Amino acid sequence: MEIDRCMCYQRTFEELRQVAEETGADSVEALQQHVVFGHNCQLCHPYVRRMLETGETVFHEVIEG
Ligand code: FES
Repeated sequence: MEIDRCMCYQRTFEELRQVAEETGADSVEALQQHVVFGHNCQLCHPYVRRMLETGETVFHEVIEG
């Protein structure tokens, strides 16, 4: 299992990481000001939070809210 994107909007965490780097966004909500993702099922939110903390963009484990 490999989880590397917001499935609902087809935005990779790598893409989101770059936007975070460029804009300084440091939360899901701040990132959503710059790029459309995460408005549907929101299962990607804990992954995006982890990405913002650690810089990881590919996950092999289930991370729950
Ligand atoms: S996976 Fe991101 S909103 Fe559903």
